[in-house]
Amino acid sequence: MNAYSIEALRQAAKRRLPQAVFDFIDGGAEDELTLRENRAAFTRVRLLRKVLVGVSQINTETSVLGKTAKLPIVIAPTGAVGFGWRGGDIAVARAAAAFGIPFSLSTSATASIEKIAEAAPGRLWFQAYFFKDREFTFGLIERARQAGYDTLMVTADLPVGGKRERDFRNDFSIPFRFTPKNVLDFATRPAWALDMLLRGVPPLENLVGMAEMGTDTRNLVSSVGRNQDPALDWEVIKRVRNAWPGKLLIKGIVLPEDAERAVSVGCDGVIVSNHGGRQLDGEVASFDALPGVARAIGGKASVLMDGGIRRGSDIFKALARGAEAVMIGRATFYGVCAAGEEGAKRALEILSDELVRTMQLCGARRVGDIGPQLLFQG
Ligand SMILES: Cc1cc2nc3c(=O)[nH]c(=O)nc-3n(C[C@H](O)[C@H](O)[C@H](O)COP(=O)(O)O)c2cc1C
Repeated sequence: MNAYSIEALRQAAKRRLPQAVFDFIDGGAEDELTLRENRAAFTRVRLLRKVLVGVSQINTETSVLGKTAKLPIVIAPTGAVGFGWRGGDIAVARAAAAFGIPFSLSTSATASIEKIAEAAPGRLWFQAYFFKDREFTFGLIERARQAGYDTLMVTADLPVGGKRERDFRNDFSIPFRFTPKNVLDFATRPAWALDMLLRGVPPLENLVGMAEMGTDTRNLVSSVGRNQDPALDWEVIKRVRNAWPGKLLIKGIVLPEDAERAVSVGCDGVIVSNHGGRQLDGEVASFDALPGVARAIGGKASVLMDGGIRRGSDIFKALARGAEAVMIGRATFYGVCAAGEEGAKRALEILSDELVRTMQLCGARRVGDIGPQLLFQG
């Protein structure tokens, strides 16, 4: 694998996948303002370098939710990875274990909670979506506990699905269907299409057995969020807190007051996130929402962030603004779509190499040396 940047992996994924599948991964909601803003926010902040501190030894190890990780990176939960690469969830989980970082499994994954626990030896986190059938999710949470997952995150930014217009245009839906409109697109990638035809479309294994709770016409084409529970509120989180003995995070926080509320109901931290620009278009970049949340709860609870991480220097900047670690969604997703486990590992290798280099160039020998003093304030 000779890709030298996350963008190169993205291009390789684009070459392998039908447009509809690539767009599902790559795209955001409506005009994709927030998708672009997640990237743009990093480019607006400049670094400062401390020189002559001796940077022959760099240590990227850090504590994430109380346990050591080899890098300040966590794999973000992503659904439907198997559409991009059969067995892709396991491939990414193995890559994470090889790099000594946590892997988060999505409720909408194409591998079950138990399958991942069996196939990947590393630290596992589980992401919960709440559906109109709430008890179904409590059942998944109990299964994650029994399978040894140590951290649970509840995603709070998807009370309904975002309006993802690339999916409308491409006639892409989950469960995935071949339609007269999309079949031509699939024919342009015969290897991918043949695999799907011969071996079947990978099911969302954790959702097997969940009753369809009626069809919401707003989501007829873009099926994301169809069964989501728009009534989800802090009362449910309190119930989750009682049911889950491990670490608990809320994913999708941007307001400092919501972060404080999460801590007050017993959560161990939050993930500052806008779902990779896939939900509310026009909302603030995660990187720009980070400082407010870090000021509100930093020191008392863990603050992670995701959205737009494509470079090691992005990770550096997020840590300098107060994140304990970052989560990455598309970076490893592109990698696994390009070349399976090898591609996912390559994505982590690229980010790790860039982070180490940025630390060397900025004179930060340890993660603890990265702070606001290395950001140019103007
Ligand atoms: C294809 C795709 C599927 C996703 N599925 C989920 C999911 O099932 N649950 C969830 O909480 N977030 C999901 N996300 C959001 C990611 O967890 C994460 O917040 C986002 O990808 C971070 O932005 P980045 O892709 O720029 O790194 C998904 C993102 C993508 C790109």
